Amino acid sequence: MILQKLPYYFLLLSLSYAPSLAFSFSQSKELFDQAKNYEGSSDLVNLEYHMGPVLASPINVYIIWYGDWSLSQQSTIRDFLYSFSSPAPYPSVADWWRTVRLYTDQTGSNITGNIVLSGEFYDTRYSHGAYLSRLDMQSIIRTAVNKRAMALNPHNGLYLVLTSHDVQVQDFCRAVCGFHYFTFPNIVGVTVPYAWVGYSGAQCPGMCAYPFAWPGYSGSSSSPPRNNEGHNIMRAPNGDVGVDGMISVLAHELAEVSSNPLVNAWYAGDDPTAPTEIADLCLGVYGSGAGGGYVGKVDKDTWGNAYNVNGVRGRKFMVQWVWDPVKKRCYGPNAID
Ligand SMILES: *[C@@H]1O[C@H](CO)[C@@H](O)[C@H](O)[C@H]1NC(C)=O
Repeated sequence: MILQKLPYYFLLLSLSYAPSLAFSFSQSKELFDQAKNYEGSSDLVNLEYHMGPVLASPINVYIIWYGDWSLSQQSTIRDFLYSFSSPAPYPSVADWWRTVRLYTDQTGSNITGNIVLSGEFYDTRYSHGAYLSRLDMQSIIRTAVNKRAMALNPHNGLYLVLTSHDVQVQDFCRAVCGFHYFTFPNIVGVTVPYAWVGYSGAQCPGMCAYPFAWPGYSGSSSSPPRNNEGHNIMRAPNGDVGVDGMISVLAHELAEVSSNPLVNAWYAGDDPTAPTEIADLCLGVYGSGAGGGYVGKVDKDTWGNAYNVNGVRGRKFMVQWVWDPVKKRCYGPNAID
């Protein structure tokens, strides 16, 4: 996102890492520039259905809190997940998810609107260390289900591995903020979809927690300027730049894992190992008029914190828009047109 001032990130475009399925910087400049076009035109987008399943049954979400998580961080993320299937004032998280529910599989089944937090596991001992590869996420899931602390749900389980501020992950902060994939039976025992999202507040808020931190911000200096080179830096609605940034990445990954869980359903592009998925198409777009570094029209709460959707218990969140297959453009419930 918003990396036009940081050209070296785009070199990553040419690196091929494991199947992308990722919130990827490499695509962001190109997509960011195009996002505006997408609002009015669909000719550029070749989003196609490849006959595989979508997550049409009620989704049981299992969270693995890997590392060191404060109670308030956990509570913000939990409330975000509770907001998918609970009422809140319009525009709500559930309203935002309605766009995702427009995707169907070949049986005509829509993506579910029923998302339930069904289990949590605290991996406070960093079972696989503080330097993780992409594949390690699957071993972390196996560890959690082996301890019987968490159910292995092969029917409608979705596993989320969330890594804390002090955990380094392959490609994190260099190429990705999160990714989704599915487990291999020889590691976990079954094939289940999963997603990983890292806490970027300490390592790279300017990359993974934009627009709450400016793109050049490393996380080590004092507070970033409110307005850097034309980027309008916004205040995080839940007071934690890292967690509020994670929420948008989590929303992005949930939209994509639901519409492309086995990487054979909804994506654009000819290469299934580097698909452009329904949230990739709208990177950096949070409101009407977004594009070229502007996140679009979003709301501000009483304290001046930015948000575009409401959640349970009066929470507010900023989530990026996703591609609407009916309107054929990026869309969210806070759209003004
Ligand atoms: C299911 O998807 C179809 C096609 O996009 C859409 O017309 C319909 O409104 C969707 N149903 C729900 C409940 O979202």
